[in-house]
Amino acid sequence: MEPVIRLKDVGLKIGNREILKDISFEVYGGEIFTILGGSGSGKTTITKCIVGLYKHTSGVIEVFGKDVSKLDQFHMDELRKTIGYIFQGAALFDSLRVWENVVFYHLEHGDFKEKELRDMALKYLSMVGLSEKHLDLYPSELSGGMKKRVGIARAIATEPKLVIYDEPTSGLDPITSRLIDELIVDLRNRTGSTAIVVSHDMVSAFSISNRILVISEGQVVQIGTKEEILNSDIPFVQEFLKKGLGELQEVRRSA
Ligand SMILES: Nc1ncnc2c1ncn2[C@@H]1O[C@H](COP(=O)(O)OP(=O)(O)O)[C@@H](O)[C@H]1O
Ligand SMILES: [Mg+2]
Repeated sequence: MEPVIRLKDVGLKIGNREILKDISFEVYGGEIFTILGGSGSGKTTITKCIVGLYKHTSGVIEVFGKDVSKLDQFHMDELRKTIGYIFQGAALFDSLRVWENVVFYHLEHGDFKEKELRDMALKYLSMVGLSEKHLDLYPSELSGGMKKRVGIARAIATEPKLVIYDEPTSGLDPITSRLIDELIVDLRNRTGSTAIVVSHDMVSAFSISNRILVISEGQVVQIGTKEEILNSDIPFVQEFLKKGLGELQEVRRSA
């Protein structure tokens, strides 16, 4: 099977700092693939390279079989339309209502009537567990968890084949975090899309992922299934797991 994403020996240097070094992995259709690592390890940077916001300085990145470094602006924009990107911190437009945030792409690019756009917004809001009563609210009137949901609704409103979530549970309480986890799995199951999740949340990673990539200081430490990572004999992975052990026991108890 052709992977949805393929990175081969990807490096990124900014100035003389090596931010990413020899990153290689493949993500297959329908997978939830988590990039797990501490703060500053390079997780967000990898996803920015995948969507072309950063240009990698060595190696190859292919998305849907296309070498992103060979795409001109037009084709890169075309490719981006097939990717939903949920930025860290939701990044909603504060001056726009919820429905305008959700259908922002269609507001800008389409020729729809307001009623059609509101209906469209409602369709995606209901997929993330929100309803008609949220349509006309402003972001400042939403809780953190609701903001994340609206951010996810906006990302899926273009019906992307690949969804990238950057720290979807950060800043949320444990209960809301687990709801967002369920939502990520549910959306994948319903739409058949592929997901890359960037996280330092061990509970989340071990609940939702098909495979996990552990990263440290811009380098891959291990890639494997949950079982392979849990039974890792690599000291760094063992240490990393030990730090989150308390949290993980919770997952095991509730599994
Ligand atoms: N534009 C940039 N210029 C310089 N350094 C950067 C830039 N973007 C990211 N970095 C550095 O790259 C490292 C990895 O960052 P990042 O991918 O955001 O980490 P993570 O998402 O894992 O917390 C950090 O040390 C960060 O300071
Ligand atoms: Mg980050």
